[in-house]
Amino acid sequence: MSEPTYKLTVLISGNGTNLQALINACASSALPSTRIIRVISNRKSAYGLTRAAAASIPTTYHNLIPYKKQHPDTPAGISAARSAYDADLAALILADAPSLAVCAGWMHILAPSFLAPLAAAGVPVINLHPALPGEFAGAGAIERAWEAFRKGEIKRTGIMIHEVIAEVDAGRAIVVEEVEMREGETLEELEKRMHKVEHGLIVEGTRRALKEIGERREKERGEGEGEGEGEGR
Ligand code: GAR
Repeated sequence: MSEPTYKLTVLISGNGTNLQALINACASSALPSTRIIRVISNRKSAYGLTRAAAASIPTTYHNLIPYKKQHPDTPAGISAARSAYDADLAALILADAPSLAVCAGWMHILAPSFLAPLAAAGVPVINLHPALPGEFAGAGAIERAWEAFRKGEIKRTGIMIHEVIAEVDAGRAIVVEEVEMREGETLEELEKRMHKVEHGLIVEGTRRALKEIGERREKERGEGEGEGEGEGR
């Protein structure tokens, strides 16, 4: 198989339906010359690991508990455990030299000890947040939006794919799609509609992030070729 132009590392915690959307997109023209080179899960039972194995993608299980056991159960100890866990996660990802890391249903907040080495290596990290920019940061976003609609506080929610920064669910939005709220809809019905939108948006957000990476590579190549011009004059 020829070397793909773009390599993805996908981080998951659960069912992996968004991972599946990416697997399908890599196998079609939706994400051309792109391959998922590893799937990492922080939960052993995540069904996404089975999806990855079925697509012959290498998987790694990386869990916080062993790190917590090595540190005291105090706020400082927990913070040190998370920092060490995140630093090892970064090393694990960078060992594969991916183009991009995609958090697709990844339920762990990434610390600066993760973000700094990826930024230094020029590997962007993007994330799926099932809400609009600036809304319902953190877990349970769909449920909180559904409750807010019932209270008359909002009329729509949405999904965004965004760059990951230290602040939770707050980095630059790469692609956003609004989802209207419907009177009388159950939480389960809303979740179902949201997941359908997510599966399109995770692919589109990844496509746009890879396009930006491609443009950056082109620019760097152009600048590299420009260097040395005029030498010997
Ligand atoms: C997604 O549906 C998303 O709404 C939620 O986790 C689910 C994972 O589903 N939350 C986040 O992604 C928070 N970042 P999946 O494992 O089937 O892709």
